[in-house]
Amino acid sequence: ATSLKEVFKNDFLIGTAINTQQIEEKDTASDRLIKQQFNAVTPENIMKAEIIQPGWDKYNFDLADKLVAYAKKNNLKVNAHNLIWHSQLPSFMRHMQDADSVRKYFVNHINTVAAHYDGKVYSWDVVNEALNEDGTLRKSIFLQKLGDDYVVEAFRLAQKASPHSKLYYNDYNIEQPQKRAGAIALIKKIKAAGVRIDGVGIQGHWRYDKVPMKDIEESIKEFSTLGIEVMFTELDLSVLPNPWDNATADVSATAAGNAKMNPYANGLPDSVAQMQAKAYADLFQLFLKYKKSVSRVTFWGVNDGQSWLNGWPIRGRTNYPLLFDRNFQPKPAFYRVIATA
Ligand code: XIL
Repeated sequence: ATSLKEVFKNDFLIGTAINTQQIEEKDTASDRLIKQQFNAVTPENIMKAEIIQPGWDKYNFDLADKLVAYAKKNNLKVNAHNLIWHSQLPSFMRHMQDADSVRKYFVNHINTVAAHYDGKVYSWDVVNEALNEDGTLRKSIFLQKLGDDYVVEAFRLAQKASPHSKLYYNDYNIEQPQKRAGAIALIKKIKAAGVRIDGVGIQGHWRYDKVPMKDIEESIKEFSTLGIEVMFTELDLSVLPNPWDNATADVSATAAGNAKMNPYANGLPDSVAQMQAKAYADLFQLFLKYKKSVSRVTFWGVNDGQSWLNGWPIRGRTNYPLLFDRNFQPKPAFYRVIATA
C-alpha cells in the first residue's frame, strides 16, 4: 500500500497522535495503519501532567513506558507531549495559591519526567501554549506564581534533565503575525540566556476552508531564520462550523440540540471531501517547498472517528478532519497528499 512515511522519507517525518488503546492488540486496525503510514508519534494525552503525575510524590509512567516501548519496536520517533502547560494539570495543582508549592511542582515535574525519558524520546514539547493571541504571555498559574522567566527556566531544567532529547516550544495560532512575534521574542530570549531550544511546533488546527497559507509560509521563513526546526505538530482540518464564527451558536448545548452546528452527522458530502483534499494538498506543497526547514508533520489522530474534534469545541459532533475515515480507509485527502510528493 502507498505510505506517507515512504513518500516523504527524504523530506520530513510523518507523525500521528496516539493513545494506549490504539497500540494494544485489540485495535489491530489502528496498529496496522500506524506501522504502515507513520515514523513518528506524539502521545495525545498519556504524558500530560494529570496522567503522569497524579500526586505530589506519585508518578505513573506505566502507560507512557508502554507507548515508548511500542515506538521503539516499530521505529517511531516519540515527541513527548508535554512538560509545562496550563491545561490538564494534576488536580492537586489546579488552584494552587502558594508560590513555593508551584515552584516545587514545576522543578520536580520537569526533573523527574524529563530524566525518566532522557534519550528514550526523540524530543519534548517543553512548554505548550504559553502565549496569548496578542503575543504576550498567557496569565497561567506558572506566569502568576513564577514570573515571566518561567519559560526560559523550563527549558533550562529540561536541558539539564534530558540532554539527549530535543527541546521544542509548541503552540497554536503562532502563524498569526502578532502571536508569531511573541513566539519569536520568546525563542530569542531562551537563546540569549544560553539555553538550548531545537525547534518550534505550529499546532495546525485549522478549518479546511480557512487555512492561513500566507501566514504559514511567512512563519516557516521567520522561524527557520532563528536556526531552529519548524514543525506542524497537531495537524487536522475541521469541516464543521466554529461557534466563535457563528454568533447564534449555543456552545453549551450538545450537537443534537444544535443541528446546524453538526451538518454532516450522516456522512461527509463528496464535494466537501474534495475541497478538504485540495486544502491538504496545498499545505503539503508548501511544506515540500520548505522541506529544508520543516522537519516533521504530525496529524492529531489516526482516523476521523478517533479525532478530538468530534468532542471539541462542542460535544457530540461528527467531524472528518484527518486523512483516514472511520473505517480506516484513505480519503481523497490522503491520495492528494501522496500525489504532492
Ligand atoms: C487534546 C486531546 O486531543 C484531547 O483528547 C484532550 O481531551 C484535550 O487535549 N492542543 C494541544 C493538545 O496541545 O494537547 C490538545 O489535545 C489539543 C490542543
